[in-house]
Amino acid sequence: MAIRTILLYPDKRLREVGKKIDRVTPEILRLIDDMAETMYEAAGAGLAATQIGEFYQLFVCDCAPEDEPSDFRVFINPEILERVDRTTWDEGCLSFPGAREEIARDAKVRVHALDRDGKPFELEAEGLLAIAIQHEYDHLQGVLMIDHLGPLKKRLLHRKMVKRA
Ligand code: NI
Repeated sequence: MAIRTILLYPDKRLREVGKKIDRVTPEILRLIDDMAETMYEAAGAGLAATQIGEFYQLFVCDCAPEDEPSDFRVFINPEILERVDRTTWDEGCLSFPGAREEIARDAKVRVHALDRDGKPFELEAEGLLAIAIQHEYDHLQGVLMIDHLGPLKKRLLHRKMVKRA
């Protein structure tokens, strides 16, 4: 396992769309291990492959509260099948260090994906897990949290991140 470098906004590679994974090869399993290690090291609740410059439809997350056992999950080729109700959530992103933004999301989602054994599963999620799934799914399409902000907040966050870089 290895800790990988997380791409930071405004790195243009964050806009690339991940390719579908045809088969869970040993390389993909190694990538999943690296993503887990990188996510935990950065104390994030989720990480998309595209955030470390690996352009695949793959993300990992762990939305367990700090005082509860870990809830590590792998989503390969995820598809959001159903979205129910709207909510807002105070979100961060490892590609936007230090930023927290209130973002409008769907409150519940039903998602289809493959797990790390390549086995299909379906999951209904709400709360933080539903938010993380939407946030990470966005990454795989090259969509970032800044894209969900209004013009003024978008400009402020862009400026802050450019200054930081
Ligand atoms: Ni993110």
